[in-house]
Amino acid sequence: MNDKGNSPFTPGSPVPVELFVGRLEQIKEIIRYIEQVSSGKQENVFLVGDRGIGKSSLASFLRYYVKTQTDIFGVHVFLGRVSTLEEMVHHIFEQILKETKGQPWFKNISKFFENYIRSIDLFGISVSFNPPEQDLKELVRKFPEALNNLLKEIKEQKKGLFIVLDDINGLVEKLGFANWYKSFVDEIATHYDNFPVFMMLAGLPEKRDKLSNIQPSLMRIFRVVEIKKLADEEVEDFLNKAFNNVNIKVESDAMKLMVRYSSGLPILMHEIGDATFWIDTDEVIDKKDAIDGILTAAQKVGEKYLDPKVYRAIRSSRYKSILRKLGEIQIPRTFKKKDVEAKLNANEKKVFHNFLRKIRELGVIEIDVEEERGTYRFVNEIYPIYIWMESQRFKKV
Ligand SMILES: Nc1ncnc2c1ncn2[C@@H]1O[C@H](COP(=O)(O)OP(=O)(O)O)[C@@H](O)[C@H]1O
Ligand SMILES: [Mg+2]
Repeated sequence: MNDKGNSPFTPGSPVPVELFVGRLEQIKEIIRYIEQVSSGKQENVFLVGDRGIGKSSLASFLRYYVKTQTDIFGVHVFLGRVSTLEEMVHHIFEQILKETKGQPWFKNISKFFENYIRSIDLFGISVSFNPPEQDLKELVRKFPEALNNLLKEIKEQKKGLFIVLDDINGLVEKLGFANWYKSFVDEIATHYDNFPVFMMLAGLPEKRDKLSNIQPSLMRIFRVVEIKKLADEEVEDFLNKAFNNVNIKVESDAMKLMVRYSSGLPILMHEIGDATFWIDTDEVIDKKDAIDGILTAAQKVGEKYLDPKVYRAIRSSRYKSILRKLGEIQIPRTFKKKDVEAKLNANEKKVFHNFLRKIRELGVIEIDVEEERGTYRFVNEIYPIYIWMESQRFKKV
């Protein structure tokens, strides 16, 4: 260890507002809907994107915007491990309590909770909300009414609510969720003229599809906002800001490499930035630091995503030997099926087609639509490096 202080990078956690880059279009669009909410209209947004693309970061940026630029009260609720509606409302109201603690209007809110629910414990700075199961069921059923009552209590200070339900992936699988959401929206439409509540769900693209299969009419309710890769300029902007913040200079060839291997993926730019930050010893990131950083990041990302998804999921010995061969030939990011096939033995050739289909399903490669048929590419620059590293390791043992 050296005395470098803290890394400005946050792989795996939402990015701090001052290092947030890109997403301008989506932000503008969502702010338009937030303005609708201010005039009393209930809005529903489904924020979709792959794992690690930046959904939670965008949600947290928007909550900051709402908090500092509007008189709407925002909460960001993580529901990753939640699988019942009761747990969900529990999390939502607990988060509301946490966020209001310390606000002058906390008294109004806690009064509301005491009336609505029997027990509320306040120890010092932490608030714990432990209603009996029966009351949670009631809260699930009367969710619109509960929100409306809450709004009444805070109407002097806040004119609306912005609620993010993040990581709803587990919840969406449940039949109950889709139906509950549908009746939530229907009830508001039929019973309230004014319901200034913005709901934003965040989840994986396949979860949106799942939801629309379970409850087709639900997807007419949502405005779907999708986020994809960042542009290289945005990645560069991020890396510059982050290293600048800790007074580290980045040489231009080093920057080019870090940007290229980030492949537009926010999670990768943080992993690469972080690894490089810890490797550097002289406050200047040069090409060598960048290369070492990229290799370290490849190792980490491979262990986190490829190991469980590919190396441990693939049992077939023929698939395994194909993987090793891809490493040995140092497969480039974009490759033609027939070129690789030429390097395989008869046994491997027989299953190569299925192998490609399998790793496509696993999200490791995609079809390169811009090239001739039979051209594939790895979804990022890091995966082929890890595959190469793995084959080197195999040779050694
Ligand atoms: N717009 C952005 N600017 C800078 N860093 C970002 C941005 N979006 C995401 N990140 C970073 O990328 C990683 C994944 O982001 P996260 O918001 O957790 O993605 P998701 O919720 O889609 O899985 C985190 O390390 C986060 O800090
Ligand atoms: Mg997230």
